[in-house]
Amino acid sequence: MNLILLGPPGAGKGTQAGRLMKNLGMVQLSTGDMLRAAVAAGTPVGLAAKSVMESGGLVSDEIVNGILSERLDQPDARAGFILDGYPRTTVQAHALDAMLAQKDLALDHVIELVVDEDALVERITGRFTCANCGEGYHDHFKLPVTPGVCDACGSTQFKRRADDNEATVRQRMAEYRAKTAPILPHYAARGIFSRVDGMADMDAVAQSIDAIF
Ligand code: AP5
Repeated sequence: MNLILLGPPGAGKGTQAGRLMKNLGMVQLSTGDMLRAAVAAGTPVGLAAKSVMESGGLVSDEIVNGILSERLDQPDARAGFILDGYPRTTVQAHALDAMLAQKDLALDHVIELVVDEDALVERITGRFTCANCGEGYHDHFKLPVTPGVCDACGSTQFKRRADDNEATVRQRMAEYRAKTAPILPHYAARGIFSRVDGMADMDAVAQSIDAIF
């Protein structure tokens, strides 16, 4: 099964993609994670993306389409993938159609997590992850069972994203409304689009997604 998870920043795409990876053995393809890795490694892509990401804007379609196409060519993507945060523009949606046709792959579901934007600011500014394994946490909604120790790997090192501040989050939301929301009818017309209430608790969101499958 291949699917796209869409939704504004903080909607829970990464949280739900992580769960599907664990439960169904699918691979999570997050363009945000790929770009952050490029920034950390100081590659040409990372250098081009850094300031755009810090401002809450969108990295160029050309760059993002290129990294996603390369990632789809890796063998693990054949076992079923979750696109997390891609496509984000009409140009990317059309590029994805062409890539999938060329690679003989197909989409089964496109799911949008519907959320209240004001509540998202709290979600995002409280978010942190394990610096070692990437497990996600939240200051109010999901703390490690043992304070200061990652549930998944036992690391005591955690990190927060540079773009997780209120001003940047508001800009990322505006980008979602202006550039990403207009691609949704593209998938609705094909009968593969569903909406899920992303404001429910994490388990309830997961159940709603499973019900679509
Ligand atoms: P990206 O990394 O994709 O970030 P985003 O879309 O802004 O989404 P987030 O990762 O912030 O949120 P999420 O929906 O995954 O929520 P999460 O599960 O973490 O992109 C970052 C930047 O990269 C972009 O701004 C852009 O510059 C660039 N970029 C990336 N892709 C691009 C593309 N295709 N084209 C151009 N540029 C691109 O949850 C958030 C928090 O809430 C967590 O702490 C979690 O524990 C908690 N939480 C989750 N679900 C719930 C729930 N149901 N109830 C309570 N808390 C919850």
